[in-house]
Amino acid sequence: MTAINWAALNAAAKAASEQAYAPYSQFPVGVAVQAESGQIYHGCNVENASYGGTVCAERNAIAAAVVAGERKFVALLVYTPQLKLTPPCGICRQVIAEFFMPGAPIASSNHLGQQQSWTLQQLLPDAFTPTYLADSEKISKDS
Ligand code: THU
Repeated sequence: MTAINWAALNAAAKAASEQAYAPYSQFPVGVAVQAESGQIYHGCNVENASYGGTVCAERNAIAAAVVAGERKFVALLVYTPQLKLTPPCGICRQVIAEFFMPGAPIASSNHLGQQQSWTLQQLLPDAFTPTYLADSEKISKDS
């Protein structure tokens, strides 16, 4: 089992938050993920003048890892420089569920070094995962 490098995750997530493009919300977010390989990847939120085009830091971090060839992850850390520790939003929880085991730790930290942790299962119980697609029965249109 891969040991989780929380110090490296914190440093990477904090560095990512400093690159956040958040001119509309003024809410910078940095995320770091650790892959099963041990490698750490990071991402920040990237907002858009057409607000719906905004992509959260979680999904950008996961996308950066996927393009590097990673498919399995052991931990995720969200960093926000504020008192209230931030968990991933609902859309990101769904994306996390695609690549993380239900027991994987999903943590949040801030500029004061405070940290809180949940499991993915706690954040998204009974998640819709690829296993449901594999089990689906194909119903033909003309039957
Ligand atoms: N945001 C994230 O990047 N991750 C979260 O977990 C919560 C929200 C971003 C999206 C948007 O740029 C800003 O924070 C305010 O919602």
